[in-house]
Amino acid sequence: MGEVHLIDHPLVQHKLTLMRRKEASTNSFRRLTNEISALMTYEVLRDIAMQEIDIETPLEVTTGKVIDGKKLVFVSILRAGNGILDGMLGLVPGARVGHIGLYRDPKTLGAVEYYFKMPGDLHERDVVVVDPMLATGNSAVAAVERLKECSPKSIKFVCLLTCPEGIAAFHKAHPDVPLYTAAIDRGLNDHGYILPGLGDAGDRIFGTK
Ligand code: URA
Repeated sequence: MGEVHLIDHPLVQHKLTLMRRKEASTNSFRRLTNEISALMTYEVLRDIAMQEIDIETPLEVTTGKVIDGKKLVFVSILRAGNGILDGMLGLVPGARVGHIGLYRDPKTLGAVEYYFKMPGDLHERDVVVVDPMLATGNSAVAAVERLKECSPKSIKFVCLLTCPEGIAAFHKAHPDVPLYTAAIDRGLNDHGYILPGLGDAGDRIFGTK
């Protein structure tokens, strides 16, 4: 089975609880998504490759380590993934951004692609795919399958919430892709929503309900 990283830092868990509450306004839900995403980025990028550069302090010449942000691509699964992008880009402003548009067929819950735009040199880049909810896993599986056609150097998948069904489906298809999540909830309802969950992440981030 693939790796699952549960990011259980108290700050992440606190903010996630505030987001789950049905009274959370669009404003606070969006802000909390942003803050959690930034905190998760810290953990997701813990093992990222660094390079050494020559620098001069006020006192002498030395070397220092830097991340090459341009080697990273954050890929948002539209549209809810965009809510996570802001927090990540706040920490890694040099990262490139790709978008994948998938909609969920309401009958089959299967993923149908309608948009795909990536940097051209994906084979030289490390990819972090983001979508707040890994529920049935259908969109995540399809998105990663599509990305693999472009042969990126590595792929990680980041969500805020998932459930055992989502993890099983995702890692059945992509055991080589590590998952990062802030919570593993109980399961899915008949409409493919995570329980207890937080509702429709896209609607709550963008205030479209
Ligand atoms: N997508 C959502 O926004 N919420 C869920 O619970 C499942 C999928």
